Amino acid sequence: MSRSAHPAGPRHADVLPEGHYSAPPTDLNTLDEKVWARTVGRNDEGTVTVGGIEVTRLAEEFGTPAYFLDETDFRARCRAWAEAFGKDADVFYAGKAFLSRAVVRWLKEEGLNLDVCSGGELATALGAGMPAERIAFHGNNKSEREIRRAVEAGVGRIVLDSFQEIVRVAHVAQELGVRQRVQIRVTVGVEAHTHEFIATAHEDQKFGIALAGGQAAEAVRRALRLDGLELIGIHSHIGSQIFDMAGFEVSARRVVQLLAEVRDEHGVELPEIDLGGGLGIAYTSDDDPREPHEIAKALGEIVTRECESAGLRTPRISVEPGRAIVGPTAFTLYEVGTVKHLEGLRTYVSVDGGMSDNIRTALYDAEYSVALVSRTSDAEPMLSRVVGKHCESGDIVVKDAFLPADLAPGDLIAVPATGAYCRSMASNYNHALRPPVVAVRDGAARVIVRRETEEDLLRLDVG
Ligand code: LLP
Repeated sequence: MSRSAHPAGPRHADVLPEGHYSAPPTDLNTLDEKVWARTVGRNDEGTVTVGGIEVTRLAEEFGTPAYFLDETDFRARCRAWAEAFGKDADVFYAGKAFLSRAVVRWLKEEGLNLDVCSGGELATALGAGMPAERIAFHGNNKSEREIRRAVEAGVGRIVLDSFQEIVRVAHVAQELGVRQRVQIRVTVGVEAHTHEFIATAHEDQKFGIALAGGQAAEAVRRALRLDGLELIGIHSHIGSQIFDMAGFEVSARRVVQLLAEVRDEHGVELPEIDLGGGLGIAYTSDDDPREPHEIAKALGEIVTRECESAGLRTPRISVEPGRAIVGPTAFTLYEVGTVKHLEGLRTYVSVDGGMSDNIRTALYDAEYSVALVSRTSDAEPMLSRVVGKHCESGDIVVKDAFLPADLAPGDLIAVPATGAYCRSMASNYNHALRPPVVAVRDGAARVIVRRETEEDLLRLDVG
């Protein structure tokens, strides 16, 4: 994703400073549909709308900062994934990307399964009525209590992440007199991020059990021996925000190799493989994500081919997209508070949120887009950095983007593609109140996660 440091007709500088940005767009009012949720557009007055409602109205009713989630888009994406993978495969939405009771109900209605990775996510899923058999329980250090709760509830699968956990889950299941369906998470020696994957330097991380050195084969041996466990398959997750299918190809090949070894050693053909999540989305116009049907086709072909060459029946495939479902469906709406022009450098636009509602820029150097949404403007493009209100210079929401030069306090700007890992990683830094999530659909908006209040903050203070 290298972008050109570049130049034409910006304000404040003859030569633009170093940075990661494309050429200033010719029209700052156009919304690139790649990065905005499906029902987002501009009305005749130039105000951006979602689900038919103007952002100005939304700001009045719900305040800023706030996340607005396009429910129509969310549901459409769920259906697209479910249809693409069909009835011989399973799609598990990765709840870590964003989870709430409303989301659980939508998933349930749209026929998706749910991947949870903590007691809290499990409680949300069960509390909102997701049938336990449609839940997969992940995590590299599940507590005995969490395991017990999951087994008691009857979750569809627990993904085992260590040798200790194999024993722990078997023990709990035996105590409860059940056979728990499990998968073993393996580390396949592939690490993939965005457009690249690396097939070396891989085992050095905390998740899963390495295929290398026969560890995963040993894990299978142990799991098969324990009465409390029904080993249904092998799981692999290779990274996040991936565009290149090559990493999945290597991963699938190695997982299938393990299935063949298991068959040769134990005479058992494990019926399922899970290839994890990690499919990329467009944060800026430079990103070109794949459609679910292309991903399903590519993964299906890889697995079928590898199984044929190993003489195995093709296992049931599952995947766990989080970001690819919820990421594009939401934007964060902010009000501009101050606009500071730094001569020869750039303009700092301070908004009423920041790293407490989107830590991804500070944490991963993530790139985002931004647009003026309360009105249109014909002013020239101004190289801007959108920053928050926290006491930290790294409190950056959008590092380099162009906004119109007449931007002023009181304007509303929005950052698209903030549905995944923004609210779910939000914090109370500087005692910020975490913003609400408002679902918008067919002209109606309703809060699905309310804004925090000062009472919420103080509730935890004792003494
Ligand atoms: N399955 C497993 C086992 C995972 O560990 C993850 C993500 C997923 C599925 C879903 O991945 P997705 O499709 O959403 O990329 N906080 C980071 C992302 C961490 C992802 C961790 N695991 C971010 O904001 O980019």
